[in-house]
Amino acid sequence: MSLTNFRSAGSGAPAPKVTFPFLQEKKRAHALITALTAYDYATARLIDESGVDMILVGDSLAMVVMGQDNTLAVTVDEMLHHTRAVRRAVKRAIVVADMPFGSYHVSIAESVANAVRFIKEGGAEAVKIEGGASRCELVERLVDAEIPVVCHMGLTPQAVHRMGGYKVQGKTAAAAEEMIRDARMLEAAGASVMVLEGVPREVAEKITAQLHIPTIGIGAGPDCDGQILVFHDLVNLSFSQPAKFVRQYADGAALFRGAIESYVRDVETRAFPSEQESYHLAKNVAAALDLDASVDDPEAILREA
Ligand code: KIV
Repeated sequence: MSLTNFRSAGSGAPAPKVTFPFLQEKKRAHALITALTAYDYATARLIDESGVDMILVGDSLAMVVMGQDNTLAVTVDEMLHHTRAVRRAVKRAIVVADMPFGSYHVSIAESVANAVRFIKEGGAEAVKIEGGASRCELVERLVDAEIPVVCHMGLTPQAVHRMGGYKVQGKTAAAAEEMIRDARMLEAAGASVMVLEGVPREVAEKITAQLHIPTIGIGAGPDCDGQILVFHDLVNLSFSQPAKFVRQYADGAALFRGAIESYVRDVETRAFPSEQESYHLAKNVAAALDLDASVDDPEAILREA
């Protein structure tokens, strides 16, 4: 398959449904994989229609949608609610649901049962879990249950308290070696994709070279097989100082603030709604009510409605 077969955004060519074998094929062809988070119908639709390969219903929704300080409190039911909204919007991209903190930490049986909910009730095509080699048994059990698994290593936000903050991981030779070893073990356990967050570029490059499955970086440099960002970071809707690795492609906050301020001004000055934005009674009905009406044709009411 040539590189052009993989291009979707603006190519005019019919875009094939993204599958894990397709992502694997992209890695082999050195065609970069695009991924973004989404949490609702409207943004998921825009992202899908723009040709993004993978949409993650990330537990970052706890912070960017629900306004919490970290990702720890979001529940399976809340994640499912948003996964269903995203599912309804997406036709092409692969939809991955993040398993929230606590939903895969108690027992393997409970973890598999929670993952099954994301596939059956949420319509996700895979689940994402954070952690290193200690997740190998869970990955095997999920794959046994026919659930593709996206693993997430490095700066894993659910481990914020253990890490003592959101800090780049794998900076010493020992930590880097452990991360590379763990990545290989997770691949051997059956992981389909490896997300690498907050990892030195050199370590991400080495993991990418050693794994057969695609790596998707976020703050892991340009040598991964693909990139992911939090949608709200991409469009400046996060209300926080962006991390060094974030590139803002639009100022959504300024755009929406401007629109809202204009609306408020127009309502307060009676500039909105206008005559053209109003419905009317037919003249005969208005006359019966002793009112003025500007429409002669009663059919116009039906056409306006
Ligand atoms: O929850 C999330 O948004 C994520 C991405 C940052 C990878 O896990």
